[in-house]
Amino acid sequence: MPTAIITGASTGLGRALAEDLSRRGWRTVVDARTAAELHEAAAGWPNAEVHPGDITDEAHRAELVAAAGGRLDLLVLNASSLGQVPLPPLAGYRLDELRAVLETNVVAPLRLVQLALPALRAAAGRVLAISSDAAVEGYPGWGGYGASKAALDQLVRVLAAEEPGVRAYAVDPGDMRTRMHAAAFPGEDISDRPAPESVLPALRRLIEGSLPSGRYTEGQLREVSA
Ligand SMILES: NC(=O)c1ccc[n+]([C@@H]2O[C@H](COP(=O)([O-])OP(=O)(O)OC[C@H]3O[C@@H](n4cnc5c(N)ncnc54)[C@H](OP(=O)(O)O)[C@@H]3O)[C@@H](O)[C@H]2O)c1
Repeated sequence: MPTAIITGASTGLGRALAEDLSRRGWRTVVDARTAAELHEAAAGWPNAEVHPGDITDEAHRAELVAAAGGRLDLLVLNASSLGQVPLPPLAGYRLDELRAVLETNVVAPLRLVQLALPALRAAAGRVLAISSDAAVEGYPGWGGYGASKAALDQLVRVLAAEEPGVRAYAVDPGDMRTRMHAAAFPGEDISDRPAPESVLPALRRLIEGSLPSGRYTEGQLREVSA
């Protein structure tokens, strides 16, 4: 049974992916900070192991990787912080907020990769980092979050070069109707945005296909056959 760690699995894209993998025969190790919400989400998922916690906490990160065991087929770096909301222009961006965004979106994912690498190497596994178009576009207000996602993309790019036995992907999932998206657009009706489940076919191409390491968008993956 293949094993995956999925961070941020209580809601949104992480929840959709973790449920999908669990129902498709994977053993999943999942986290989120809000324990009750995570337990509620994962109730009924076959072979799901629930580990509430914060990915910025070293003990929690070690717990996740230990729970996966000696072989890890997939590490999904999904949990993420939007940072200061409403999204502020860089001119007024609080530096403590920037540090916190980088801690969650860059430092914690890298540390999880470091801890998981022996098990990823053992399984010739994959790292799937959830990026954003904000990593490559200059949207006003998205400087802190966007910079963190650009850094995450670059970590994945270098990891792919350093670890030829492990596939390393970054993927921009596109806009999705989630809690994070609602927080980014306060007071806006986001009901026209696609549900996170709509991204699953694209993610499956990275998880189950043989695409080379690299950065992909959901739109590109829709056009690629597995
Ligand atoms: N939604 C979009 O339009 C969009 C577009 C581009 C990229 N993305 C990316 O897609 C990914 C999923 O986003 P989403 O929209 O599905 O977000 P979401 O609905 O807000 O879900 C985020 C998940 O991460 C968990 N989480 C947040 N911080 C955490 C931490 N420090 N430690 C552990 N878990 C944490 C949350 O639970 P707790 O709060 O309980 O911890 C929740 O389970 C993110 O990487 C995001 O940047 C989203």
